[in-house]
Amino acid sequence: MRVVLGVSGGIAAYKACSLLRLFTEHGHDVTVVPTAAALQFVGAPTWSALSGKPVSTEVWTSVHEVPHVRIGQSADLVVVAPATADLLAKAAHGLADDLLTNTLLTARCPVAFAPAMHTEMWEHPATQANVATLRERGAHVIDPAVGRLTGKDIGAGRLPEPEQLYAACLAIVDSGRAAPVHEAGGGAVGGARDLEGRRVVVSAGGTREPLDPVRYLGNRSSGKQGVAVARAAADRGAKVTLVAANVSLAVPDGIDVVHVETTLELQRAVEEAAADADVVVMAAAPADFRPVSVSESKIKKSSDREAGLRVELVENPDIVRGLVAAREARGTGAPFIVSFAAETGDANGSVMDHARAKFLRKGSDLQVVNEVGADLTFGKDDTTVHLLRRGSDEATTVGPASKDVVADALWDAISPLLD
Ligand SMILES: Cc1cc2nc3c(=O)[nH]c(=O)nc-3n(C[C@H](O)[C@H](O)[C@H](O)COP(=O)(O)O)c2cc1C
Repeated sequence: MRVVLGVSGGIAAYKACSLLRLFTEHGHDVTVVPTAAALQFVGAPTWSALSGKPVSTEVWTSVHEVPHVRIGQSADLVVVAPATADLLAKAAHGLADDLLTNTLLTARCPVAFAPAMHTEMWEHPATQANVATLRERGAHVIDPAVGRLTGKDIGAGRLPEPEQLYAACLAIVDSGRAAPVHEAGGGAVGGARDLEGRRVVVSAGGTREPLDPVRYLGNRSSGKQGVAVARAAADRGAKVTLVAANVSLAVPDGIDVVHVETTLELQRAVEEAAADADVVVMAAAPADFRPVSVSESKIKKSSDREAGLRVELVENPDIVRGLVAAREARGTGAPFIVSFAAETGDANGSVMDHARAKFLRKGSDLQVVNEVGADLTFGKDDTTVHLLRRGSDEATTVGPASKDVVADALWDAISPLLD
């Protein structure tokens, strides 16, 4: 996609370098349009080297190419990060005295502003009125995060992290929203506290099926994605229960955690928590099979066992199908169910072939598809997922991105479907 990255003269201009990198590393074509003040913070050579394009602040360069009109007209997204109080005021009033403000007037694509400034400037009625005007006109204004500002002060006005801005930009383009919206920074990308009042159950980790007191059958799931999904839901205002299968990660305060070990324990805990939940997200990797019997004492090595040890397995229940069946038969449990499919391609089909078949079998409302393998997904900080929605053949791809970004993108997809 063709992105115009507008940068105005705030101290957070340095963070826009990372946002630019995120766009270019994901294959987007970026034209950086800084204001003259922005170049006081980060110089033109940096923007030019990172974007691979010439950079200009005013309308008098390369006039034969009419850049003050062409750049905005040909963009798929214009994002201004950071957006100063001054830039917001100019945009709200239609001023056009440099290349960025001209571009804002000629753009017919989604336009996003990520304001960053001291709390006093952000809260000033003039700034708030300008933000309201921009939103009324359909621009996307991403709320600044609360946190450390320039110097030692703390408050609202901090530029959200580049990964959050990147995810918010993708969500804006993906949803193609033309109506005024209120994006949020500081953790909740895509809707400020949009899960307030919702009860959410998230499962995370991988179950273990004991063979004897010291051994188990398990899988490589670390729980990182499930914990990220739980954290993102809590950040957006949900009351969250995390059913954690052998997860050793820190979980933020305020999230109720139920620890489980086996698939049967996971099933019981999820069903109990789902009774009054609005959404269940089954990010855990339950073992599909368990040993028929568990030895009470450690299974010993034996010279008689030249043929090896035979372990008989029985199939575990399918937790998602159980939740869907209970909802259909009795109307109990969560109205919205999200399944995860960790798939590998094989001779019988691609990852997506297997995932689509699984989605049909499960009957869930949304399925998150991961391609897995020794070097993919499990335990990693970054991942790529494909979201399948009920009633649609289209898959939405998110990533490669951090699991936090994927978690927010997932809630961006779920939240509008809840009512
Ligand atoms: C050190 C320093 C930091 C600044 N940081 C910000 C800021 O974070 N947000 C903001 O709105 N203005 C900030 N300003 C003020 C703007 O640079 C000033 O309003 C400028 O005119 C903005 O121009 P522009 O909107 O054309 O980029 C800062 C100024 C200085 C000197």
